[in-house]
Amino acid sequence: MNKPIEAFRIDPAPAAAGQRALRDALGAFATGVTVLTTRGAGGEPVGLTVNSFNAVSLEPPLIVWSLSLASPSLAAFRDCSHYAVNVLALDQAWLSQRFASRAADKFAGLELNPGLAGAPLLPGCCAWFECANQVRHDGGDHLLFIGRIERHRRDRKEPLVFQGGRYRALREV
Ligand SMILES: Cc1cc2nc3c(=O)[nH]c(=O)nc-3n(C[C@H](O)[C@H](O)[C@H](O)COP(=O)(O)O)c2cc1C
Repeated sequence: MNKPIEAFRIDPAPAAAGQRALRDALGAFATGVTVLTTRGAGGEPVGLTVNSFNAVSLEPPLIVWSLSLASPSLAAFRDCSHYAVNVLALDQAWLSQRFASRAADKFAGLELNPGLAGAPLLPGCCAWFECANQVRHDGGDHLLFIGRIERHRRDRKEPLVFQGGRYRALREV
């Protein structure tokens, strides 16, 4: 006898709960917080908060990060020659919040320094990496970017940390 059709129905509630559990488990991994910046086709500054940034290789000097395919910034980053990674300092959680929003002008009131190809460098960060937009890979619902560091700078400031959905400070153990 055929099974009743209800037996094959997938209940959306457990699926949502499964995704929540996955997000929570991924969120256990502590990261720094960066703002990725570039220029759009019309020369306008573009930027967003990113914690998927990581080091890949020293020789050649490569970094990686991923961008949601749903992001309105996707075309700007995909098509640019260079972008900048601004590593946020402990007192810059407000910048992280601003660049994680859909604010009309995320750069309002900031004193920007032009990096390679005009990619904006934000003031007050603990490190900056100016990267050539070397390779992009499929990454599921994100696009993976591998950048080649062409210039970098560091300021001795405490970094901002993100873990468990919260901003935190470093503590030595
Ligand atoms: C701490 C933190 C880390 C984030 N990391 C990423 C990331 O790695 N990739 C990504 O696509 N979005 C990330 N986001 C979400 C984006 O910053 C957010 O969706 C933002 O609205 C994107 O800007 P846009 O809408 O102008 O593209 C992060 C948000 C926060 C608060």
